[in-house]
Amino acid sequence: MLQPQRPIRPLPDVLISQIAAGEVIERPASALRELLDNAIDSGASALTVRLEQGGLGSVQVEDDGCGIPAEELPLALLRHATSKIADLDELHHAAHLGFRGEALAAMAAVAEIEIISRRAGADGARIHASAGQVAAVQPTAAQQGTRVTLRQLFFNLPARRKFLKSPQTEYAWCADVFKRTAIAHPQIALRLWHDGQLKLQFERDPSPHGLDRLAAVLGEAFSAHALPVSAQIGPLAVRGLICKPTAARARADVQHIIVNNRWVRDRTVAHGVRAAYADVLHGALQPQYALLLDLPSELVDVNVHPAKSEVRFRDSSAVHQAVRHAVEQVLARAGGEASSSHPSAPPAAWEQPPSALPTTAALAFGVARPSPSPIPWDALSRAYAPLATADAAPLQAQDSAAPRPYAQATDLAAAQPDDFPLGFALAQLLGIYILAQNRHGLVIVDMHAAHERIVYERLKAAEQADAPVAVQPLLIPAAFAASDAEMGAAEDHADALRSLGVELDRAGPSSLVVRATPTLLAHADPIRLARGLLADLISQGTSSRLQERRNALLSSMACHGAVRANRQLTLAEMNGLLRDMERTERADQCNHGRPTWRQIGLADLDALFLRGR
Ligand SMILES: Nc1ncnc2c1ncn2[C@@H]1O[C@H](COP(=O)(O)OP(=O)(O)O)[C@@H](O)[C@H]1O
Ligand SMILES: [Mg+2]
Repeated sequence: MLQPQRPIRPLPDVLISQIAAGEVIERPASALRELLDNAIDSGASALTVRLEQGGLGSVQVEDDGCGIPAEELPLALLRHATSKIADLDELHHAAHLGFRGEALAAMAAVAEIEIISRRAGADGARIHASAGQVAAVQPTAAQQGTRVTLRQLFFNLPARRKFLKSPQTEYAWCADVFKRTAIAHPQIALRLWHDGQLKLQFERDPSPHGLDRLAAVLGEAFSAHALPVSAQIGPLAVRGLICKPTAARARADVQHIIVNNRWVRDRTVAHGVRAAYADVLHGALQPQYALLLDLPSELVDVNVHPAKSEVRFRDSSAVHQAVRHAVEQVLARAGGEASSSHPSAPPAAWEQPPSALPTTAALAFGVARPSPSPIPWDALSRAYAPLATADAAPLQAQDSAAPRPYAQATDLAAAQPDDFPLGFALAQLLGIYILAQNRHGLVIVDMHAAHERIVYERLKAAEQADAPVAVQPLLIPAAFAASDAEMGAAEDHADALRSLGVELDRAGPSSLVVRATPTLLAHADPIRLARGLLADLISQGTSSRLQERRNALLSSMACHGAVRANRQLTLAEMNGLLRDMERTERADQCNHGRPTWRQIGLADLDALFLRGR
C-alpha cells in the first residue's frame, strides 16, 4: 500500500551514505578491495590483511604508507572527501586507485569502523565511527602508516546482512580480492590472516616484469602450463602469462585482466584473448590467463563504475587487436616449439618446452647403465614421404597447387637429428596412434588430430594467400537426400560455400549434389564434407563475424579432410606426417585444443620398469 503523499524533504546524511554504500560496499570482499586500494594509494610497500569469520566478523588492513594527519581523520570518513583529486582534469588522469571519496564514508554508515594512523614525524591518532555516528579523534601510539578495522558489516541493516553468505564463502571472495591485488601490485609485500592463521603470503617481487609474482599467486598448476607474454604495441604494453591451450578448463575462473594496475572486468580484452585462442580452442573450454596492460592514462577512462571494476578504452578496437595479436604470437610460437623452425624457446623459468626435455636420460639415474644404441638418423631421415590428405590408400603425388612446406629428402639426409624433434616413425598402434622414437625416447602422435591441424593450417594459409581456392570437380557428382534445413542453408550460403571451394547444387526438391571440392581435400568424402559444412552453417546462423565463421568452417573442413582412424599408413607416410607437424604452426594442439602428441622420455619408460632403482 502506498502512503499518502508526504512533503518533499532532503534525505538525512546517514541515509544518503547508506544508500550510496549499496553501490560500493556489497560484502566483506568489496570492503576489503576498497581498503586495499587505499593502502596502495598511500604508497605502502607492505600490507597485512586480517579477517575474522570470512570478513563477517571483521576486516582489517594495515599498511606502512604515508598515514593520515590527525586533523584530517574526520574528513576521511566524510562523504565525497578525498585527497586524491582536486578537479576534473585530475580525474581524467587519475593515478590513484580511489578518487570518489566514498568508501570510508560508506563503511562508517553501514558498519563499525576504526582508523588508527600516524604520519612520519607526527603522533598517532585514532577515530571511531558506528552507523554514521563519528566519535572525536584521540591520540594513541601507532606505527607509521594506517590500520583500518571494519567490524560487523551491515549490523544496522538486517535486510542487507541477510544477503551475506557463510563465512567460508565470504572468505573465498576475500581471498580472491587479495590475490587480484597481489597480481596487480607485485612490488608490494602482502599477508593474509584468517581467524588467526596465516593463509597467504607474497614477498616483494623484485623482477622488473612482475611475472614471478603472477606465477606465485596463480600457483604451480597454472605456471607449469604457462607461456609468458610481453609485447609493446603502440602505446599499449601487454605482459603476463597465458596457459597453453591444452591447459584450458571448463570454468572461466582464472582470467585476470589488470589495466594500469587495476584489476578489472573487461569484455574488450577478454574477447581479444578469446579470439586469439579461437584457432586452438574450440567449444566451451576457457583459457587461463593473467594479463597486465599499461597505457597512458588519457587513453582509458577509469570513472565508469562505482566499484571501479570496469574501465573504458578510448579506442577499444585498437586494444582488442593489440591483445589478440600479442596472445596469438605467443600461441603460434608455442605451437612451433616442437619445430626446428623456432629453435629459441623463451628463457623464462616456468617454460619447459617439449624439446627441452633432458637430453641424456641416463643423467636421471644414479646407476650406470648402457647408453641407448645409436639411432641411424641418416637412413631414417631418408625414409619419409608426404602424407596425402586422403583416406585413399595409394600414396599420391601432391597437387602442385598444394603448399609443400617441408624440405626435400635430399636436404634431410644432411640434417642433424635435432632437426627432427618428433623423431622417426616405428609403427602404427591400433590404427589410431603413430609411435615414433626421437632422442628423448618415445613419441606418441594422435594421427587424426595431428593431420587435422595440418590440413587446417594449410587451408588457412591458402586462404590468406588470397588466391581463389583450388577446386577439383568431381568425376562423378555426389548426390544426397537433404533435409529442409540443409536445402535452405545450401541456398542461403551458396556464395560462402563456393568461396570455400565446395560447389553444391539443388538436384531436386529434397536432394543436393556436390559437384566440386577443394583440391586440398580431394580425397575426403564429398557428401560428409558438404553435410558437415551445412550443419555448421545452420547452427551458426549468420550473426557471427565472417572471419571467425570462416575459420570455424575451415576447421570443420579440415576435420572431414583429415586422415581417419583405422587407415593403415606406411612408415614413409607416418614420417611425412611428423615432418609436416614440425613445420606447422600450432601443431601441438588439434583444432579442438587437445594435444596432438606426447613425449614419453626414456626416464619415464625406465620408471615404468623400475629400472635403475
Ligand atoms: N590507508 C590509508 N592511508 C592513507 N590515507 C588514507 C588511507 N585510507 C584512506 N585515506 C585517506 O582517506 C581519504 C578517503 O578515503 P576513501 O573514502 O577510500 O576515498 P578515496 O580513496 O576515493 O579518496 C583518502 O582520499 C585518503 O586521503
Ligand atoms: Mg578509497
